[in-house]
Amino acid sequence: MKFFLDTAEIKEIRELAASGLVDGITTNPSLVMKSGRQFVDVVREICEIIPGPVSAEVISTEHETMLAEGRKLAKIAGNVVVKVPLTPDGLKTCYKLSQEGTKVNVTLCFSAAQALLAAKSGATYISPFVGRLDDIGTDGMQLIRDIVQIYRAYDNLKTEVLVASVRHPIHVIEAAKMGAHVATLPPSVLKQMFNHPLTDKGLAAFLADWAKTGQKIL
Ligand code: G3P
Repeated sequence: MKFFLDTAEIKEIRELAASGLVDGITTNPSLVMKSGRQFVDVVREICEIIPGPVSAEVISTEHETMLAEGRKLAKIAGNVVVKVPLTPDGLKTCYKLSQEGTKVNVTLCFSAAQALLAAKSGATYISPFVGRLDDIGTDGMQLIRDIVQIYRAYDNLKTEVLVASVRHPIHVIEAAKMGAHVATLPPSVLKQMFNHPLTDKGLAAFLADWAKTGQKIL
């Protein structure tokens, strides 16, 4: 399973990339706003740090402008993935950009029907938002189960399931068990995945015993 980081914060990207755990990055207009940076600059900088896919989202809602924005974003670096919303204009843009050889991440997916349309439009990734579905009292992970099942049933559907709006490590583990291709994680969730109280307790005990030996490795 691939892990992307869902952030536009350069410092966190650098820190977590050093662990070798980061396969790509996803951004969205809200994350760019939080970063306080110029969109194109921040995408360029991320692409220099992370060789894997870096999603950058269009902001127009109309096909022709979306297409122009997508083409401009794709020119920033070879690893840019253009992110478009799951609307009729978004999927038209997805189809066109995909035909041109640009990778597309279709975002704001909340149903299996939408995911099926995105795959047929040539999306490289579909981004179902599990946390936001949970927030309204529905089962976000059931959507991942449904999409994985549908895509698996057809060899010609090559779209990867990119689990988004992840809120905690259980979302990640459940998605991995279902065989989702990618999860995009807020840095806080990736950091949480390292934690276990028995690891901390065990390490403290080992270090206490080691201190009693009076030995050194270096
Ligand atoms: O980047 C898309 C998605 O991951 C947003 O998550 O937490 O704003 O629902 P969230």
